[in-house]
Amino acid sequence: MEARTVDFSRTTITELMIPSFANFSGKVHGGILLGMMDKVAYVCAAKHSGAYCVTVSVDGVEFKEPVEVGELVSLSASVNYVGNSSMIIGIRVESLKPKTGQKKHTNSCYFTMVAKNEDGSLMQVPKLIFQNNEDIRRFWDAKNLKKMRNEITVMLNTEVKEMSFDAMLQSIEGDRFELGF
Ligand SMILES: CC(C)(COP(=O)(O)OP(=O)(O)OC[C@H]1O[C@@H](n2cnc3c(N)ncnc32)[C@H](O)[C@@H]1OP(=O)(O)O)[C@@H](O)C(=O)NCCC(=O)NCCS
Repeated sequence: MEARTVDFSRTTITELMIPSFANFSGKVHGGILLGMMDKVAYVCAAKHSGAYCVTVSVDGVEFKEPVEVGELVSLSASVNYVGNSSMIIGIRVESLKPKTGQKKHTNSCYFTMVAKNEDGSLMQVPKLIFQNNEDIRRFWDAKNLKKMRNEITVMLNTEVKEMSFDAMLQSIEGDRFELGF
């Protein structure tokens, strides 16, 4: 399978924020932005792999600034890392007020997408061709993100599950809860 550059699948989508995307005070719902992130991640992953892709996990989503009706939201996505069947897509979200030209960086996050064959089995994706040091740094960062995410999954499935409720209560003593049973 032919290796591909990051530029081959780099994708930007821009969308106008309309009233039906927002709450009563004109701020866009987080779920609308999440849907747009999923869409741009899909396009980028499908271009790189040339296949049908599914979203497996999402990391680092946080809304640093509110997005308002009338703003133009641009989502730029690129393949940061490829494994065997998985791709980590880095997404940068920026919002522009067209009247003033004021730009906000609202979010950067990572979507893990997996490529599938027609029969639903996992498909190997093309390797990435690095074209500059930034491509190397992003690959390295994403590989470490994958490693840390795996460690957290192992921790949640072992340490926490093996903990007694008394030990849990002790470790959260002082937090904002009351026992109601
Ligand atoms: C994700 C999925 C493909 C994993 O299948 P699996 O048989 O457990 O396969 P594996 O454990 O070999 O994982 C396949 C790849 O996904 C990655 N992966 C699996 N779980 C992951 C997770 N929680 N986060 C990030 N990556 C994950 C693995 O690292 C592996 O990557 P690699 O091929 O590059 O090495 C499978 O659970 C699935 O199809 N889920 C549904 C996804 C979907 O339909 N999404 C749409 C939302 S409705």
